[in-house]
Amino acid sequence: MGVMALALGCIAPAAQAAKDAGLKSVERGRYLVKITGCNDCHTPGFAMSGGQVAEKQWLIGDSLGWRGPWGTTYPSNLRRYVQEVSEGDWLKVARTAELRPPMPVPSLRAMSDADLKAIYRYIRSLGPAGPTAPAYQPPGEEPKGPVVQFPAPPQ
Ligand code: HEC
Repeated sequence: MGVMALALGCIAPAAQAAKDAGLKSVERGRYLVKITGCNDCHTPGFAMSGGQVAEKQWLIGDSLGWRGPWGTTYPSNLRRYVQEVSEGDWLKVARTAELRPPMPVPSLRAMSDADLKAIYRYIRSLGPAGPTAPAYQPPGEEPKGPVVQFPAPPQ
């Protein structure tokens, strides 16, 4: 009994501290997602409505294409994406992936590991939802749905 009490006394506060740190990280991730604008593209209707979209719809990806000299890109369903990649892979993607416009890659590159992990944990905490976004289409391929059209770059 003495040993049990001692063991519980040692482990329980550590487990609680880890849980608190995890929750803090999720809460920070939520804050970061709000101030870095991920929802503007990765949440349908968010930018157009001034953010009037319920949190349970956040980051489910969008079928509204972004068309320019790079082809047509579709903001990924991050709610599903984080279920498929590990936290380590998420960091690798943020550091090295050559994502196409208009994904603000410089913003991801500039984030600290702690901030990137917090965002990952927050998105994971929301659970998977929504359909997979349409696949990238190369230049010259006609998009099936609506697009935001970028003009040709200045000469
Ligand atoms: C201006 C629009 C826009 C904003 C804002 C934006 N994204 Fe993206 N994001 C995209 C597009 C478009 C793609 C798809 C790029 C491609 O096909 O290469 C993408 C792709 C990604 C991917 C790659 C996922 C995969 O399927 O490979 C990650 C990760 C990502 N975004 C995270 C974020 C995070 C985190 C934020 C907020 C800090 C954010 N994005 C903000 C448009 C945006």
